[in-house]
Amino acid sequence: MAELVPVEPFDIVVFGATGDLALRKLIPALFHRWCDGQITEDSRIIAAARDTMSDEAFRELAATHIVDKSMSDERRKSWTSFTQLIRYTALDVSRDGEDWNDLKAAMDPNEDKIRLYYLALPPSIYGSVCAGLARQSLNSWNARIVLEKPIGSNYHTAREINDKVGEVFRENNIFRIDHYLGKETVQNLLILRFANYLFEPLWNANGIDHVQITVAETLGAGKRATYYDRSGALRDMVQNHLLQLACLVAMEPPESLEADSVRTEKLKVLKALRPITAATVPNDVVRGQYQAGAVDGEKVPGYAEEVGHDTDTETFVSIRAMVDNWRWAGVPFYMRTGKCMASRRSEIIVQFKEIPHDIVGVAKGTLHPNRLVIRLQPDEGVKLMLMTKDPGPGGLRLRYVPLNLSYAEHFEADYPDAYERLLMAVVRGNLSLFMRRDEVEAAWRWVDGIIQAWDEGQAKLYGYQAGSDGPTQSALMLDRESREWFDGLSR
Ligand code: NDP
Ligand code: BG6
Repeated sequence: MAELVPVEPFDIVVFGATGDLALRKLIPALFHRWCDGQITEDSRIIAAARDTMSDEAFRELAATHIVDKSMSDERRKSWTSFTQLIRYTALDVSRDGEDWNDLKAAMDPNEDKIRLYYLALPPSIYGSVCAGLARQSLNSWNARIVLEKPIGSNYHTAREINDKVGEVFRENNIFRIDHYLGKETVQNLLILRFANYLFEPLWNANGIDHVQITVAETLGAGKRATYYDRSGALRDMVQNHLLQLACLVAMEPPESLEADSVRTEKLKVLKALRPITAATVPNDVVRGQYQAGAVDGEKVPGYAEEVGHDTDTETFVSIRAMVDNWRWAGVPFYMRTGKCMASRRSEIIVQFKEIPHDIVGVAKGTLHPNRLVIRLQPDEGVKLMLMTKDPGPGGLRLRYVPLNLSYAEHFEADYPDAYERLLMAVVRGNLSLFMRRDEVEAAWRWVDGIIQAWDEGQAKLYGYQAGSDGPTQSALMLDRESREWFDGLSR
């Protein structure tokens, strides 16, 4: 049975508390941990943003994202008690004003208490926050800073941010969040690979034909369009979430699950990624942008219409990446992500090699190679596709069927969401689910190569209908190598 162990008392300052992330994810995550008894009463939540408002007004604002008519009386009571932990303080972090004193006054003066500074802010002002905290001597030995992704918009800006944060906090107190690393199924990837003997002997270029990583969303850019239009799918999703997933699939076995063992192995994968250049980008990368269509039966305007101006920001990208090391020589990692796609699904598919010799003598196309489907969300689960004999008389017939591990059927369905888990990991000082500085910078170096190739004029943007699986060119990219995206089977 899952056991929830309370964490030590802490003070958390949520910078950017009136923003989308804080209201939609962070405050609810803290509330859920409170309801489960993981957060003690002597913890404090200090919400900070520029607007001036009272504690009560902020609590009411937060409630609009959490409290609804269907909430039970018991849950409502918990909400009321939870809000007693919350204070609001108005603060413009980019200015060295009096309001920093108010922040300090809202915090517990005990310097030994665990302090968390969560930067749910535009990354360009991460440096100002650190400078402000240092001026107030709030960077005590037990203080941890949490940086949201994307850290910077390229290698150089990421380095600048990391340098500024590094002047105030030691690397072991810096928690760079990639919320995908907090997802239950993503954590299970390491267990699947390294706590089973079955896969490891085959987990290389001898046993595996190729890997597919898909993170498809049905939603468009929505309220975050201003941010998204500057970022696009490559910076928003590939630089962090997709590359982290690729690292977990491709990395060598770490010595242990200790943070630096895992992070060092992930870094080696990032460094082994073959650079994509202006010469290779037309073959290896497809950029797309959604056009008007329908998602889940609802009409959706095109992206440019949604943001209200002409734009060449990509809302879809698919990439053929190669990991140039001994284990993965010649094995493509196909990655794709997009908004307004046919269905919401994140999954990793490992396609094993074809058998070397067919003893059955069935018609061509009847024998399928084994395939491991790791469904990250929704309907979390793991499927291993196998060839079996169709039972019964009437000649030898073969069937391609799944060995199916569905989380919903096998486990308690109710486990903490990624932000809940990650917040508790920060309080515990467990860095293993967070990215180290060199990982973030190595990921940017590789992504920068693609951006540079696009800047050199190799940035053709293909339209795709909202509600589809992306531009046809993405399918053609695999077709050129006699492969296909496995949408149908894994859905
Ligand atoms: P929003 O624009 O919705 O919120 C930004 C917040 O920062 C607001 O509370 C804003 O409040 C505050 N802020 C801006 N400038 C200052 C300042 N100078 N001083 C103090 N507060 C300031 O952004 P999001 O919540 O969407 O994103 C925040 C961060 O999280 C970004 O780095 C983003 O990339 C990352 N992120 C967001 C995700 C999401 O789902 N939203 C997912 C993953 C990462 P005010 O202007 O009133 O001061
Ligand atoms: C965020 C991106 O990091 O991840 C968003 O900024 C995206 O654009 C989101 O929608 C997807 O996360 P999840 O957990 O819903 O798959």
